[in-house]
Amino acid sequence: MSVGLVPTMGALHGGHRALLRRARAECDEVVMSLFVNPTQFGPGEDFDRYPRDEGRDRAIAAEEGADRVFAPSVAEMYPDGFSTTVSVGDLGAVFEGAHRPGHFDGVATVVLKLFNLTRPDAAYFGQKDAQQLAVIRRMTADLGLGIQIRAVETVREPDGLALSSRNAYLSPEERRRAPSLHRALVARDPGLVEGDLDYLAVVDSDTFAEVEPRPGALVIGAARFGSTRLIDTIRIEGR
Ligand code: PAF
Repeated sequence: MSVGLVPTMGALHGGHRALLRRARAECDEVVMSLFVNPTQFGPGEDFDRYPRDEGRDRAIAAEEGADRVFAPSVAEMYPDGFSTTVSVGDLGAVFEGAHRPGHFDGVATVVLKLFNLTRPDAAYFGQKDAQQLAVIRRMTADLGLGIQIRAVETVREPDGLALSSRNAYLSPEERRRAPSLHRALVARDPGLVEGDLDYLAVVDSDTFAEVEPRPGALVIGAARFGSTRLIDTIRIEGR
């Protein structure tokens, strides 16, 4: 029996559906975790207002054929005395890590714990969060976890905006401007972003070192539209 894990923080959208479908197609048993992980949010970030609707998320998981939903409480995941942190070094300190100190330590720690609690053969992550994917791949290789990390293509709105649970925060006017992040990545032109740009860079997909544009490299970006911070990634196609 192969087990596929789809780790999520809920507020499921079409991108999560794509992860679940891929896991359903490739694994005998599909487990979706549902846990808004407090340790990956910094002070003043959106942990408290992060959209939560467990009933809706469970219904979507069932529609997409998940066999089990693992939805632990914060107290179960982080009981009194919890004190271990997984840190992936430099890879977790640049770009998103520089703008959100401690974020990737929180992600790596919770993902390792989710792996240990659900014992998957494969785990599924979206390509939009490319640095998260690289961090998890690094951790999985470094610690010899023996789990296959599978990346799933970003799902986009017709105007190019990557699906994200945080898109729900956008006002109509911010929603109109938000696809400019994707347009800027495609053109590799930071000037196209109709918001406050945090970074736009071309990086190696494993190390996140900045590189000259080349097939297989990633174009990554993050920008704020009002109080909503969005990230996106595209891959430079080969010939
Ligand atoms: O991408 C996410 O939703 C989260 O960062 C993850 C991987 C579920 C860890 O909390």
